[in-house]
Amino acid sequence: MCGIVGYLGDHKASDIILSGLEKLEYRGYDSCGIFFHDLDHDQYITYKDKGRVKHLMDDFDYQFTNHLAIGHTRWATHGRPNLENSHPHFSLSKRLGIVHNGVIENYQELTAKYLSDITFSSETDTEVIVNLIEYFLDELPIEESIRKTLSLLEGSYALLIIDTHDPSIIYAAKSKSPLLIGLHPEGITLASDVMALIGHATHYYPMEDKTFAVVSQNNDVYEYQIYDIIGTKLSPELLEMDLVLDEIGKAGYSHYMLKEICEQPSVVRKIMSKYLDSETCRIPEDVISFFMDATRIYIIAAGTSMHAGFVGKYYFEHISHIPTEVFIASEFAYNQPLISSERPLFVFISQSGETADLRACLTKIKERKFPTITITNVATSTLAREADRFIEIHAGPEIAVASTKAYVGQVTILAIIAYQLAPHKPFSLARELSRLAVAMDAIIDKRDYIGRIVSDKLTHRNCFYIGRGLDYFTCLEAALKLKEISYIQAEGFAAGELKHGTIALIEEGTPVIALISQKRINHNTRANIREVLSRGAEVIVISLTDVSESADQVILMDVHEMLSPLLMVIPTQLIAFYSALHLNRDIDKPRNLAKSVTVE
Ligand code: F6R
Repeated sequence: MCGIVGYLGDHKASDIILSGLEKLEYRGYDSCGIFFHDLDHDQYITYKDKGRVKHLMDDFDYQFTNHLAIGHTRWATHGRPNLENSHPHFSLSKRLGIVHNGVIENYQELTAKYLSDITFSSETDTEVIVNLIEYFLDELPIEESIRKTLSLLEGSYALLIIDTHDPSIIYAAKSKSPLLIGLHPEGITLASDVMALIGHATHYYPMEDKTFAVVSQNNDVYEYQIYDIIGTKLSPELLEMDLVLDEIGKAGYSHYMLKEICEQPSVVRKIMSKYLDSETCRIPEDVISFFMDATRIYIIAAGTSMHAGFVGKYYFEHISHIPTEVFIASEFAYNQPLISSERPLFVFISQSGETADLRACLTKIKERKFPTITITNVATSTLAREADRFIEIHAGPEIAVASTKAYVGQVTILAIIAYQLAPHKPFSLARELSRLAVAMDAIIDKRDYIGRIVSDKLTHRNCFYIGRGLDYFTCLEAALKLKEISYIQAEGFAAGELKHGTIALIEEGTPVIALISQKRINHNTRANIREVLSRGAEVIVISLTDVSESADQVILMDVHEMLSPLLMVIPTQLIAFYSALHLNRDIDKPRNLAKSVTVE
């Protein structure tokens, strides 16, 4: 997690760093800081503190001319979120300043071996890196000291380093944590995410693992050189910037999450335009052939993406007839199951494409030479680059920490793949997805009504979602969304399982939200609703018209049963949103979370 930004160029560096940090705040927001060169007085200035970037912007003075700066927004791993642990950190002599995203696993061994005399001023592993570089400076020039240090580090890092002896250079290095170099004739910007490059780069280059970059100013020209760890020059392939500022604004909505919920019908339409041509799948053949060759699919994912994986399993088994298993990435990485299939295919589902738990699995799977595919929203991400093939979700940048439209994008893509693999097509997917998008629009238009239900009924400290079959998977996702942004303790249950223990928690007024979209099991879920009603639960039923009863609180337009998870999830996202609004929570940046979970 954590976001880093650096800038060297003609413009005011502190402005670019602060607006970049604001865009990267989704990566962590425990503390933040900036380090820049004040050209007017030829001195270096550091501002840092716990709290949000807004504090860094509003409460410090940036009136100095400055063209060189690095900044950081933190999700705490080593050490509490406080002033001392905020980045940037400095070497003992204060010659070197550094910002770091990642975790150095062997920092204690390195400290014992090289830095036992030093009293550190923070609890971070980052201070070890910068002091190690300074340690080697006794014998080596700066670039070699940095490279020597990098060769000793185990773990993950994206680093930006300023050597105060030369205000015309930024050093950068990357392994496992993302780092991009954005190029513009008027300056070079470095950042953890392409979003912080918008407006400041025409092209960019996602740095490869174990590479080192020197960004420098030579008269009026800004240059960069990329090296591998032993100092061999590399020639990077540049990508064109295709994101525009509008895509990352709130477009008049009060919150990113609400904007992203409302964008979901367009996400479905956009994915159709990319990957479905009438009834023909347009996912490239070399990707589809991976699925066609597989005798068993293993889906690996975390959180919301894993919930999309459960729906994917249902699709692959029921539509394509391929046995499929879903694994929690953090478990799979260290407890691999017996892989008995002759031709397994490993599918990694990830909004960010950077989740460390998935990366750990991908490395292990690749060692065993099994085929891999990543489904991700970020085409330049590590998981996209490191898998054999990748499929882009095309949901557009998702900025709210709680994932909504990426989930809908993932499930839509899984439906398209499963449909393509189907021995015979059970329905017209193009027609059903178009109907789905209309039904999504309809419930989104009625969102204020959901807001009213929430303020009347969701006043308890806990809540249960119940459903069967595909609705059960939606319940898991619904409960995760509710707890992560409202902090209401919520659990998703298979409706029939509730009576095997958890029903003991139902008391007078306990909210139970029942999801019913599957005709075959409507009757069974209704029986479970009666069980909780008779124990005093406050029940909200969300159903499709075809299976509805007149007393149901939210009745949605009918869609094909297979696609119902894509529709049923929307009222649950709105329930989470309005509950959090009602409780005055920080909806887009809930406590303790970060969007891109780059630590295991
Ligand atoms: C919940 C949420 C998380 C992520 C999980 C995996 O709203 O966003 O549960 O789904 O951290 O992240 P990705 O999909 O980026 O691998």
